[in-house]
Amino acid sequence: MKKYITTPIYYVNDVPHIGHAYTTIIADTAARYYRLKGYDVFFLTGTDEHGQKIEESAKKRGKTPKEYADEISSKFKELWDSFEISYDKFIRTTDPEHIRGVQKAFEKMYEKGDIYKDFYEGHYCISCEAFFPQSQLIEGEYCPDCGKETSIVKEESYFFKLSKYQDKLLKWYEENEEAILPKSKKNEVIRFVSEGLSDLSITRTSFDWGVKLPSSVGDPKHVMYVWLDALLNYVTALGYGNDESLMKYWPADYHLVGKDILRFHAVYWPAFLMSLDLPLPRHVAAHGWWTRNGEKMSKSKGNVVDPKEVAKAYGLDNFRYFLLREVPFGQDGDFSQRALIDRINSDLSNDLGNLLNRVIGMSGKYFDYKISGENLLKFHKEEISQTESLIAQLDPLASQMKWHRYLEEIWKILSIANKAIDVHAPWNKMKESKDEEAMATVALTANILAKSALLLYPIMPKSAEKIASALGFEINEESFEKYIEKSEILPDILIQKIPPLFPKIEAPLMQEKKESEKRRQETQETVSIDDFSKISIKTGTIVEATDIPKSKKLLKLKVDLGEDSPRQIVAGIKEDYSPSDLIGVQVCVVANLKPAKIMGILSEGMILAARDEKGLCLISPLRTVQNGTPVK
Ligand code: ME8
Ligand code: MG
Repeated sequence: MKKYITTPIYYVNDVPHIGHAYTTIIADTAARYYRLKGYDVFFLTGTDEHGQKIEESAKKRGKTPKEYADEISSKFKELWDSFEISYDKFIRTTDPEHIRGVQKAFEKMYEKGDIYKDFYEGHYCISCEAFFPQSQLIEGEYCPDCGKETSIVKEESYFFKLSKYQDKLLKWYEENEEAILPKSKKNEVIRFVSEGLSDLSITRTSFDWGVKLPSSVGDPKHVMYVWLDALLNYVTALGYGNDESLMKYWPADYHLVGKDILRFHAVYWPAFLMSLDLPLPRHVAAHGWWTRNGEKMSKSKGNVVDPKEVAKAYGLDNFRYFLLREVPFGQDGDFSQRALIDRINSDLSNDLGNLLNRVIGMSGKYFDYKISGENLLKFHKEEISQTESLIAQLDPLASQMKWHRYLEEIWKILSIANKAIDVHAPWNKMKESKDEEAMATVALTANILAKSALLLYPIMPKSAEKIASALGFEINEESFEKYIEKSEILPDILIQKIPPLFPKIEAPLMQEKKESEKRRQETQETVSIDDFSKISIKTGTIVEATDIPKSKKLLKLKVDLGEDSPRQIVAGIKEDYSPSDLIGVQVCVVANLKPAKIMGILSEGMILAARDEKGLCLISPLRTVQNGTPVK
């Protein structure tokens, strides 16, 4: 019996925050749960290192993409190691085996006739170097990322015949009730697919930092689209296209993802797999977003919470418990220290910790720490049977990643014990010389705690182990089988005294930057003189200006920068200037901007302008200077 569990491979353009920690901790919980149940588990995580964004992030920092990827990838790995995440493999898309596997897969899809070459035409943002579908553009024309005007660009590209798989995908969703978790997310996916799938552009020529096409296909100017490369990690990690011995773990049992990337995993990925004749994953499980004051946490918004800091301040297990208990799987949740403290104080300290303290206290006071389960069923049959029936409901909750519900049920089990102590009051029984009865109630509590510790281990491994050690047993497959699966009662127990596991927390333990302080830091963000000097700005005279009839905003200019021939520059100034106004005007031009094609027209620079509410205004020197004079 095997289980293959994966996290997304995270982009290395972002340092890890609690959103990433959330996915990884859920996956780790599932991996630990199934290992405890005796499954052969393979748990994969890693980093996604190719693509334009990463190429750019590296460039900004004066590093090669690989140097930059090495640096951030190791931050993810270090974080997971310090969190004792029990992954079996950490894959990087720059691993040579991965790259070979991706090329093999491309080759196979190509030979099958699922890949063809054509032109990609779309709305392109030069500043972000990215295509966006019409539906994502702001007011139908501005870039959703940077807000700048986009233009229509045509680029040669290979396409994957996604449309061919539309019906097969719909059939897959229909026949597999739990293919997408939570089940409520399935309809969203079905709607998207039913509206019709267009073929998917899967190569790019506008940047280099990616996997080259296989040599059998040739065409060296293309690199693979980062999502094709990235999704394939789930099989290349098992050796697809290389040594395939680990492919015995395929198909994946759980792909854990955030809802932002559900479409990639529930539509594109299964279609790729069908094309490769590989079985489809059993579950794609998509959780919601962690927000800060209602906004999605992301580095670009500057509102991230560092998971290491939270774990350091509040304890790793407490943090894990909070993440899984606070938010129903699939829904969004807002992170606050207040909510975390409330969970720790009420659930962990009051309910769980206190129960352990009571067992330790009573067993010491009345029975010299020696507890026997001999008369347990005689006095507490009802409580034991309630406990067992609650336990029997847990596995389906775990297998649907409903960890919040799973934990809720465990807390019902704990309350059986807390109630039994209050009702049967062992201290009174002792006064009445009913020692047997008092012992039975303490034994019930110890047994409930022991079973709870086994069940809590996947979520709070260290705390569960401490509870187990106080009760004199170890958490492993064998004890899980005995006390959970076979409902056995613990034999005689010698209780060990341990310090309280979940001390109450009075006030927030982490300092947070005030919003105003953050904003000040943002506006004060500086560049060095070296950064500035990388930009070459020169004066030049507009010698030709022509209309681009297809475009509302663009004019084609020729600007004399004192070079052999004038530069061709496409400028978005048509709404403010007519071509005839411009001839002979001297302007400032960014002369070393990477050339780009805008609406199929080459543009070799950028003209500087200021925009206020009256519109756009070109920047011109106060007296005419020689063309090509550097602006400093
Ligand atoms: O998308 N709340 O990588 P990525 C909850 N490389 N989860 C969050 C989150 C938040 N605020 N922010 C991020 C990629 N996540 C691709 C994946 S897989 C073949 C390629 C988590 O670094 C969540 O799991 O942007 C989300 O899906 C993932 O990080 C996105 O990570
Ligand atoms: Mg992302």
